[in-house]
Amino acid sequence: MLDLAKFINESRLLVDSELDRSVPAADIEPVRLHEAIRWSLFAGGKRFRPALLFAVGYAFGAVAEDLVRTAAAIELIHTFSLIHDDLPAMDDDDLRRGRLTCHKKYGDATAILAGDALQTIAFKSLADDDRLSFETRTRLISMIAGASGSPLGMVAGQQLDLEAEGHSIEFDQLQRIHLRKTGALIAASAAAGAIIGGADNVQVECVEHYAIKLGLLFQITDDLIDITQTTETLGKTAGKDVNAQKATYPGHFGTERSRELASETADDARRFLDELAVDTALLKELVDHIEKRTF
Ligand code: IPE
Ligand code: IPE
Ligand code: MG
Ligand code: MG
Ligand code: MG
Repeated sequence: MLDLAKFINESRLLVDSELDRSVPAADIEPVRLHEAIRWSLFAGGKRFRPALLFAVGYAFGAVAEDLVRTAAAIELIHTFSLIHDDLPAMDDDDLRRGRLTCHKKYGDATAILAGDALQTIAFKSLADDDRLSFETRTRLISMIAGASGSPLGMVAGQQLDLEAEGHSIEFDQLQRIHLRKTGALIAASAAAGAIIGGADNVQVECVEHYAIKLGLLFQITDDLIDITQTTETLGKTAGKDVNAQKATYPGHFGTERSRELASETADDARRFLDELAVDTALLKELVDHIEKRTF
């Protein structure tokens, strides 16, 4: 019997100790920068991307020691994206992971630099991961950089998200935004697990297809919980998408239809798992978990 909560918790423990090793201690100069980094990193994120990377990696026979640095690197990049996403020039949020946002606590300049530092620490850590061959490291760095940047990654998605504020956009464009700002890094997390596990190219591609759908589902449900849950449950200000006139699924389709589309997207993700030649029970559970999530 699978216990997903236990699995996610074990992944969290592994990745958190690696994260602690990866970033400078809070008493190292510049102290304010390292405090700011740790403030955001250890505020209690869900660590979903690392859990997904571990789940795929284990399915392909990888061991935790070979996965953990890549899992941590992706979480560093994700946390950088959240710090910048919350800045006044972007979503202007006061609350993240149940506490003040980085810029509210440390000021805009330090928050910008904390994000910059998190990103460079992540790529340095990937380059220095001597448990993996140089070939694997290069492949991971290239893939994760693509998923984080532009034109197909998170940074591109964030730009399109900002440009869409206050405008009515076509469904195609909404989907493009969600796939880039959130889907790409989630797909890279899953693909990284498969690559480290030694999956062949066909299997890596199939994992990617699965996780692109899972990543889209993750952002559709993020849009839904923004309007259906409380600030206390979310650890970030609820209802902000409507106020900011963000391009979201519920904004475009209404809540009911968005739930149906979430469910169809979850089915799409599950379908790709049928093409994998490994045990996919845990990967299926992750789809259910994201489909039903309330925070
Ligand atoms: C929030 O990501 C931003 C999105 C991409 C939707 P998460 O919901 O994974 O945030 P944490 O890491 O748990 O704080
Ligand atoms: C952000 O999407 C995606 C990122 C790359 C950070 P949102 O702006 O909807 O994320 P939240 O709701 O602030 O966490
Ligand atoms: Mg945003
Ligand atoms: Mg935001
Ligand atoms: Mg959101």
